[in-house]
Amino acid sequence: MTDQPPTRPTTASAPHPAPGLHANASANTTPASAPCSRDYSAVVERALGALDLDTKVRLLSGQDMWSLPAVPAIGLRSLVMSDGPIGVRGRYWSAEDPSVALPSPTALAATWDPELARRAGHLLAQEARRKGVHVLLAPTVNLHRSPLGGRHFECYSEDPLLTGVIGAGYVRGVQEGGVGTTVKHFVGNDAETDRFTVDNRIAPRPLRELYLAPFEHIVGHARPWGVMTAYNKVNGTTMTEHHHLVTEVLRGEWGFDGVNVSDWTAARHTVRALRGGLDVAMPGPRTVFGAPLAAAVRAGEVAESEVDAAVRRVLLLAARAGALDGAPPAVDPAEAPRGIDGRAVARELARRAVVLLRNEPAVQAPEGGARPVLPLDATGLRRVAVIGAAARDARVLGGGSATVFPAQIVSPLAGLRAALPDDVEVVFATGADPRTRVPHARDGFTLTARYLAADGRLLARTPQFDGHVQALGSFPDGVTQRDLHAVELTGSFTPRTSGTHTLTVAGTGWLRLTVGDAVLFDGEGAKLVGADPFEAFMQPGEHRISADLAAGQELALTLRFVPHSRGPGEGMDALNFALGHSEPQLDDDAEIAEAVRAAAGADAAIVVVATTEEVESEGFDRTDLRLPGRQDELVARVAAVNPRTVVVVNSGSPVEMPWRDEVPAVLLSWFPGQEAGAALADVLLGAHEPGGRLPTTWPARLADAPVTTVTPTDGTLDYAEGLFIGYRAWQRTTVAPAYPFGHGLGYTDWEYECVDTTPDSVRVRVRNTGDRPGCEVVQIYLAPTGDTPDAPERPVRWLAGFATVEAGPGESAETEIPLPGRAFEVWSEPDGGWRRIPGTYAVEVGRSSTDLRLTARVTAE
Ligand code: BGC
Repeated sequence: MTDQPPTRPTTASAPHPAPGLHANASANTTPASAPCSRDYSAVVERALGALDLDTKVRLLSGQDMWSLPAVPAIGLRSLVMSDGPIGVRGRYWSAEDPSVALPSPTALAATWDPELARRAGHLLAQEARRKGVHVLLAPTVNLHRSPLGGRHFECYSEDPLLTGVIGAGYVRGVQEGGVGTTVKHFVGNDAETDRFTVDNRIAPRPLRELYLAPFEHIVGHARPWGVMTAYNKVNGTTMTEHHHLVTEVLRGEWGFDGVNVSDWTAARHTVRALRGGLDVAMPGPRTVFGAPLAAAVRAGEVAESEVDAAVRRVLLLAARAGALDGAPPAVDPAEAPRGIDGRAVARELARRAVVLLRNEPAVQAPEGGARPVLPLDATGLRRVAVIGAAARDARVLGGGSATVFPAQIVSPLAGLRAALPDDVEVVFATGADPRTRVPHARDGFTLTARYLAADGRLLARTPQFDGHVQALGSFPDGVTQRDLHAVELTGSFTPRTSGTHTLTVAGTGWLRLTVGDAVLFDGEGAKLVGADPFEAFMQPGEHRISADLAAGQELALTLRFVPHSRGPGEGMDALNFALGHSEPQLDDDAEIAEAVRAAAGADAAIVVVATTEEVESEGFDRTDLRLPGRQDELVARVAAVNPRTVVVVNSGSPVEMPWRDEVPAVLLSWFPGQEAGAALADVLLGAHEPGGRLPTTWPARLADAPVTTVTPTDGTLDYAEGLFIGYRAWQRTTVAPAYPFGHGLGYTDWEYECVDTTPDSVRVRVRNTGDRPGCEVVQIYLAPTGDTPDAPERPVRWLAGFATVEAGPGESAETEIPLPGRAFEVWSEPDGGWRRIPGTYAVEVGRSSTDLRLTARVTAE
């Protein structure tokens, strides 16, 4: 280290070491979160001793979609679980009880900041307590093995360290709020195709060093109260029955003491699941546990003591969550973080997650030098064109079980309009609408849902956020499966424009749409078909109706729905139908031409491009990485007429950007959560720096990506690439990605001044050489130098730690990042066990996995 002292006190957030339980690693001194430290054994044994077999087995089986039964005799309340991960949906799969919607997990990981993840957790715990939820079904810590993975948006990263560190921050935060987590999906649910049955063949080294590593890190550092076992098999055994991975590895080696909950409907066999280490089969009421488990005990197939072990873990969870009388909760509710402003947290996370991929000069600066197009200087703007369907209808979250219903959404258009001075004109044009489904009716509609019995009796009435009526797991209060006959979505619609509007109806049942006096549709909706019944239920086919309507003329409207099927699961309270609406639209060519005209007449053009629910969601994988519809053409044509074109990519995972070198600025907003537009305006106008770094490599073309096969062959998916996913694979090819792992620009520049190492830490000093305050993510990679001839094959380099530092203009900041023992280890085959590989390693310090600024050496004995 050079002798110059830092010019101001260090402002570095806590550094984040690689996972590992190695004794000499300072990384492992991080304490597990305090909430788990109470000893509940006496109270748990007392409660267990008071239960008969039938009650015990009931506790291991969902009583409905989201909860376990109460046992008042022992003072046990019903434990309620809820998805996760970006909000807390609660018991209702509907907009009835709105939730704060935070940015999606790829966005959270893009902050590279576990402290922010922890604060997100505090907010989520507050939301959970408000909704009576004890356990959040999150975080999702499977890896970005392939960019095609349908739930890529819901996982953090292609790197096990970054995933583990962010996941541990999240778990700690939620649990410090007195609410449990279930880290999911243990393990190997890295894609969606045939997810219920696929057998993922993963060799021991990648299994340990990649896929299990985030779970191991989180168990070791944050002590989660729960884990959720995945649908898939690993190496021939379905995960809900995987004795080796659950009982020997997770519980035995790592010391996990929490509850193991199945993914929804993943438990398939009573005895094998219990023996495999599963504690709770969800959802109910009919599962392989409950009565079938009592029968298995009575038939002598399993011992009651095996049931007791699982019940103990459920009682421990209840004690921790404050649902068992006589057990002080792990966190005193009075001491849990509270009074958190959800909108503020959502906005802060969203702007910290924005990854600025490219920011080139586009205008002549007054002093003659060219400066990057961002941040936009609002004082120099007279007219701004905001373009793209997603600019008005932002895709704020990813689909499937991650869905929550926020009370409000700030679109990019609204966010920019609010942030720009009043005298700046904002012109909007759709340009290209990639959605193949018509969006749910919202603007101009006032709607209520009325739940009716067969005799017309009103069972319940709920206000509607939009035209989508949904229930999954529980109906509104007052509605039962037995009584419910029909639901009417009723209210008024006042068109904003005159012309031919499109209305759609969709649902698995009989649908009748009346607008004014006219019956516009009266017929059968979609049938419940498809390989994934959940997906078929969630996305029923739609019928389109054209209607010539006049602006400003209010119309009464009712969509009556008589369901055929209760939903994807037998006995489950479920309902799903929708009214869609889109404004009169020009044809596609005319839409693009209108956007080009708007851009040509503006001082800057902001184009928001997005994926859709149809191409990126839970339940299926992507088939390509292209932006759907004509969005690529839209960007290229706008960029051709406006040199200050800024493209905002609103997707949860990589998309191809063939135009990326033709526009001066490209940034990723991910699925940004409910404050999307407010956060985007913060960044575009320079109120805040975009703080994100890529948590995953962004390929230029799908064909270049290291893993492009997510479809099993004869039921098996071979993880043939072994250790080489993400940047570990890109480093071995001559093909460069569009943007590497770790990349992301800010609004200032950094000089990496010096690095100093000890055997177990790295000290780095960086200086902000720009003219505004900034935030830098200092990344440490470890690269073997090849002086150990018998070392097993390893990647060229791997992430070993990172830290965020802040400094004002001209100032420096220093950070010390631990180098834990695990960073020097490999899982040895065939005997098993971690093996330290001695030798000299380069410690590479930089701004991304390819922009490495300083190198030092460290020797491992
Ligand atoms: C998902 C889980 C989710 C569960 C409950 C499953 O389909 O894989 O992640 O927690 O549903 O919604």
